[in-house]
Amino acid sequence: MTVTVLTENRACGPADCAHGLSLHAVTGSRNILFDFGPDGDLLLRNARTLGIDLARVDLAILSHGHDDHSGGLEAFLQNNDHAPVYLHRLAFEPHFSQRQEGLKRISPDPELLERYGTRLHLTDGVFSPDEGLTLFSDPGDSDLSPGSNGTLYEQAGDSLIPDRFLHEQDLLIREGEKLFLFGGCAHRGIVNILRRGEALAGRAPDAVFSGFHLTNPGLKRDEPEDLVRRVGEALEGFPSRYFTGHCTGEGPYRILKEILGGRLEYLGCGLRFTL
Ligand SMILES: [Fe+2]
Ligand SMILES: [Fe+2]
Repeated sequence: MTVTVLTENRACGPADCAHGLSLHAVTGSRNILFDFGPDGDLLLRNARTLGIDLARVDLAILSHGHDDHSGGLEAFLQNNDHAPVYLHRLAFEPHFSQRQEGLKRISPDPELLERYGTRLHLTDGVFSPDEGLTLFSDPGDSDLSPGSNGTLYEQAGDSLIPDRFLHEQDLLIREGEKLFLFGGCAHRGIVNILRRGEALAGRAPDAVFSGFHLTNPGLKRDEPEDLVRRVGEALEGFPSRYFTGHCTGEGPYRILKEILGGRLEYLGCGLRFTL
């Protein structure tokens, strides 16, 4: 498995960075795009810089209905004529972020469903798009769920309620004897997601690639240190390696690094990892 970070918040290689996430994964038999970053031009430019041919991607996944992951979706569809894209059936529902400048709708444009309907496949619960691949959107909650979701909302009738992230899905990839877990922001809590992935696969993943959502990017406020430490200690209990960035936050990352040492690496824009 080779993973290339096409978009992430901090440039660690030749590509341009922006708040968002897009990961490209090559396994023995597949060429997968996981999320599209915030902007189509950026996705295309970084793919060119990093030598990734998006036209050769054969399967794509959107982790959840937020524009820092879905912004490049249409550009991808225009530059790849065959890959099915798997999104949760609630990804196009209205989702909002409370910013300093006001409330902003951050879910993808539902018109994409009409324009590219045959390319977009809606998922729910536990879903296998192909052999060795499992999408799941049903982790439980726990006291390790992040509190920094507090400025994110979903529409319920005429009112807004706190986003429950029912539109979020995570991906397990089995490649031979190895198992990998991919997440977007882990709004449902990375430890909850990891526990659910372990239960579904019957074993813990060898490696996890995901934002851990331990900071609120809008408010620039990190989760309390106590929670970050408890997340780190729970992650330490799994045998996995962790590759994280995006919404993990620099302060929480440093705390996790103290706990996890060499088992944690920064998932910086432009980097490539082979496992
Ligand atoms: Fe995000
Ligand atoms: Fe998000």
